[in-house]
Amino acid sequence: MKLMTCIEDLRQTARRKVPRAFFEYAEGGSYAEQTLRANRADLERIKLRQRILVDVSNRNTKTTILGEPAALPLALAPIGLCGMQHGDGEILACRAAHAAAIPFTLSTMSICSIEDVAASVDKPFWFQLYVMKDRGFVRSLIERAAAAKCSALVLTLDLQVLGQRHRDIKNGMTVPPELRIENIIDIATKPAWALSVLRGKRKTFGNIAGHVRGMENVNSLAQWISDQFDPALSWKDVEWIKSLWPGKLILKGILDVEDARIAAQSGAAAIVVSNHGGRQLDGASSSITALPPIVDALGSQIEIMFDGGIRSGQDIMRAIALGARSCLCGRAYVYGLGAGGQAGVARAIEIIRNELDVSMALTGITSIAEIDRRVISST
Ligand SMILES: Cc1cc2nc3c(=O)[nH]c(=O)nc-3n(C[C@H](O)[C@H](O)[C@H](O)COP(=O)(O)O)c2cc1C
Repeated sequence: MKLMTCIEDLRQTARRKVPRAFFEYAEGGSYAEQTLRANRADLERIKLRQRILVDVSNRNTKTTILGEPAALPLALAPIGLCGMQHGDGEILACRAAHAAAIPFTLSTMSICSIEDVAASVDKPFWFQLYVMKDRGFVRSLIERAAAAKCSALVLTLDLQVLGQRHRDIKNGMTVPPELRIENIIDIATKPAWALSVLRGKRKTFGNIAGHVRGMENVNSLAQWISDQFDPALSWKDVEWIKSLWPGKLILKGILDVEDARIAAQSGAAAIVVSNHGGRQLDGASSSITALPPIVDALGSQIEIMFDGGIRSGQDIMRAIALGARSCLCGRAYVYGLGAGGQAGVARAIEIIRNELDVSMALTGITSIAEIDRRVISST
């Protein structure tokens, strides 16, 4: 892992080790992938301000996220099918996050269930909720997350309908994946991956299979999911979920100032400025472009998190400089998982933390609290 010096190295390794359908599922965005590309391009355009002769010998990347200590302002984002990048992927990523003292978020669409992860780690994690039409099932997911002592509920609001991902259709990467002959051949060339998935606890959606009658069969499960995402989701549902969830609530998928204002009044603890990693509305603003107006409108009313395009510590610095309190990363850790399981995720976090630390030194900053718009260069 030492020779993996940046997230791109992990990405290249994951590309070799993970079957193409799953790698491209992680890599891709919706439609023409304009928003996916904009997430990266707009972050890269932000120049940092080099400062010299500031004593930076006593600096650290520590912060708090929702009042809890964290080693850096980063959490692992919810990733559907995470356990298909590597067997037991959710458990391994959660362990790596906890060892690095940052939060991990388990997706509703995970392979390992809430209970599987809770039984395999010794600290609480966050649970991400999709609201499905079957509100009884949504209620039971919330109860399961509470029983597993999840420390926050991340409610994703930007996926009432699914943005089309061309690559997934072309690869037979339905949810769950279609086993076409070319996929089988591809998998045969990835034996380490196949072994890890074969040995993994589950091969299907752990939070759903076995919890809804008639959904033990993988194919009918896929049908159920595509029928179940609820296009009628409204702010009333957010209220309802708030009334059921005793802990901290995070609203994820906010890109518009008007929505952010409503969210700030909802009683949630935090929002995540996010366009779902460029996987939903193609043509939407990059997340980093959407961030400053939301920060200006909300001030300190609510904790503001950010995701979309984070691949380095420099990117975290850019987002924090523009007003985010912390960031989530998706693909950056998924590449680590595909490249090397738990050690790969640990390496992804370590790379990002080290980059953040050095960037702080070179911008003359000694604490996360000091990072603000002054670290951005106007030239
Ligand atoms: C493969 C993949 C699966 C995802 N699954 C979910 C999910 O189940 N729930 C969710 O709220 N967001 C999901 N997201 C969005 C991420 O949580 C996050 O918003 C996004 O990855 C951030 O962009 P980044 O990948 O550039 O860091 C997914 C993203 C990817 C790449």
